[in-house]
Amino acid sequence: MEKTKNIKLEKDSMKDETTLSNGSRIEAKDVKVWYDDFMAIKGIDMVIKPNTITAFIGPSGCGKSTFLRLFNRMNDYVEGFKMEGKIKINGDSIYKKKVNVEQLRKEIGMVFQKPNPFPKSIFENVAYGLKIQGIKDKKLIDERVEKALRQADLWEEVKDNLKKSALALSGGQQQRLCIARTLAVQPSILLMDEPTSALDPISTAKIEELIHHLKEEYTIIIVTHNMQQASRISDYTAFFYLGELIEYDKTRKIFTNPEKKQTENYITGRFG
Ligand SMILES: Nc1ncnc2c1ncn2[C@@H]1O[C@H](COP(=O)(O)OP(=O)(O)O)[C@@H](O)[C@H]1O
Ligand SMILES: [Mg+2]
Repeated sequence: MEKTKNIKLEKDSMKDETTLSNGSRIEAKDVKVWYDDFMAIKGIDMVIKPNTITAFIGPSGCGKSTFLRLFNRMNDYVEGFKMEGKIKINGDSIYKKKVNVEQLRKEIGMVFQKPNPFPKSIFENVAYGLKIQGIKDKKLIDERVEKALRQADLWEEVKDNLKKSALALSGGQQQRLCIARTLAVQPSILLMDEPTSALDPISTAKIEELIHHLKEEYTIIIVTHNMQQASRISDYTAFFYLGELIEYDKTRKIFTNPEKKQTENYITGRFG
């Protein structure tokens, strides 16, 4: 049985205090995306199982970020963006009119390539989303901040300096802080768009390890240019090319015995 709970994404569920402790299932059905006349995603079907790590790979411009950003409706405000098809999370379509997009973005957290902490203290960065939600209970905020920093494997390094500016942290620490900030509001899905490509190898290793642990509680999708990273950390790999999903399978299969020549050429470094 899949470990999912119902997400309440509709507007009348604003006050629902339920928090999800497990990852969610994502389903894309014949999804097409255009930026004005340019077709960036050409009809993709995909099912992502809860509590798995899925890597999106493929050459620059093939549509990985566009497809990833569909899952928390981050493309909505891009000029000229248009989409067709369905995206469902735990069976509910997320592009229906009555979906509460703010609630959706709380359930589906996102971490970007460049760490982007706010120019505030370490504590305030992690507490930010909780305060936005109207949580005022100081003890609860303290607990959630500590928990998120522990989950992001940053607590031991910062616990004595929570008032220090987040901008004084190293790049790798800043990225773990951004992960903590996302986790503090208790999402069920984590979207990561090349989260380590701006980091040194040691910071990268730390983040990979932490992603591995987070799988128990979250469904994780990670866009990566690093083939070793995809093969080290993911359960499933999706190879995109020119807006199409060429191959999607268990990571071991993709990296040892892909079905398609294009996949093989890409993972062996013959193009891209
Ligand atoms: N905001 C945008 N406006 C117009 N075209 C875009 C926009 N974002 C991405 N594209 C185009 O869509 C295609 C897919 O881009 P993207 O999803 O960023 O690819 P990837 O993440 O795989 O590098 C590219 O051809 C890119 O130029
Ligand atoms: Mg991208």
